[in-house]
Amino acid sequence: MNKKRFKIPAAKVYVPDADIPRILTLYRKILKNGQLAWGNYNTALEEGFARYVGTRYAVTANSGASALELILRARGITGKEVIVPTNTNFATAAAVVLSGGKPVFCDCDSYNLSPRPDQIGRCITKKTAGFIIVHIGGIITPDIDAIAKLCKDKGIFFMEDASHAHSSLYDGRKAGRFSEFSAFSMFGSKVITCGEGGIITTDSKKIRDLCESLRNQGKEGGNNDVHYRMGSTYRVTEFQAILGIYQLKRVIEFRKLRERIALFYDRELAGSELIRPFLIPGGVTSSYYKYIAWIDKSVDREKLKKTLKEKYDIALSAPVYKVPCHLQPVFKGIADPGGNFKEAEYFCDNHICLPISSAMTRDEAAYVVESVKKALSRGGNVFKKKA
Ligand SMILES: Cc1ncc(COP(=O)(O)O)c(C=O)c1O
Repeated sequence: MNKKRFKIPAAKVYVPDADIPRILTLYRKILKNGQLAWGNYNTALEEGFARYVGTRYAVTANSGASALELILRARGITGKEVIVPTNTNFATAAAVVLSGGKPVFCDCDSYNLSPRPDQIGRCITKKTAGFIIVHIGGIITPDIDAIAKLCKDKGIFFMEDASHAHSSLYDGRKAGRFSEFSAFSMFGSKVITCGEGGIITTDSKKIRDLCESLRNQGKEGGNNDVHYRMGSTYRVTEFQAILGIYQLKRVIEFRKLRERIALFYDRELAGSELIRPFLIPGGVTSSYYKYIAWIDKSVDREKLKKTLKEKYDIALSAPVYKVPCHLQPVFKGIADPGGNFKEAEYFCDNHICLPISSAMTRDEAAYVVESVKKALSRGGNVFKKKA
């Protein structure tokens, strides 16, 4: 066993030492000049993010959830259905409801974690306005081009919830480039962060203009007193934008740092009976927002989590996700309860996420592997009781 004992968080924000004085210099500057919101750093983050993803426009928002809602409200989905994977965060489906639409949950493929075209096709009705794909854990499904074509052929919009996927690629193309509009979360646990925040990317000037207006209380063209539509205050501060600018500069570096840990886990866990690395599909470069591993049915995840925390000081994040949306009480009576969600349920029930961050060292990862293997060794108390 690795002699050194570490305290391992499930995820960790990484702001490299070299960036801290630069960020603080800009914080000092805005504290002096008083431009704390609605300033040049927001614009710089938007321009930088659009340039990075390769879209014409980007719009900042105060969270990933707000970014999703702004897009859907700008697109207009009142009274319409929007197909959403059941295997996603509450926010994806909630944004549909908050924008006046009805989420229709869709099962997913348990080997690439997104709905397949046949599964989406079964959910399309005369009322369908669009489909939102979610790049779970940073994995873009290799079916993405077929899904984009399906949406185009059926005349429905295609949107990415790219909250997990800053820097993810499929076939060399970046998350945010496959659809008409995308939402990224910039929350603290994400690959890059503003602390809290979200970013919309799109090539559509109309959607960009409407998102900008809706995030600023329905005003147009900056701060005047005329409100044209029912917006709200979804803006981010200049503090958040400055942090985001410095994080964006390192997005590829951060992915590589995560990848190094993920490949180490893959190597060290290969051949384990009770825990198997999730296989990233060919052609995909994951952001490794999450490191996903299949866990044997004999293992009680809650007991494993508790043992790792109490005995080894290792925090496991929640799985992505433990309870799929169709089983969330809040959507009862709002979304269709029917449907077959077997593959999503199988995934939700049978995986764990090992700690990963851009700041993690190889020694810490080695400590995690050794501790997990110890916890899973015979005679441990992490197994389900036999019926
Ligand atoms: C897939 C997905 N979409 C949207 C969100 C919401 O992002 P935020 O927490 O920034 O509102 C999350 C949050 O983790 C998420 O996982």
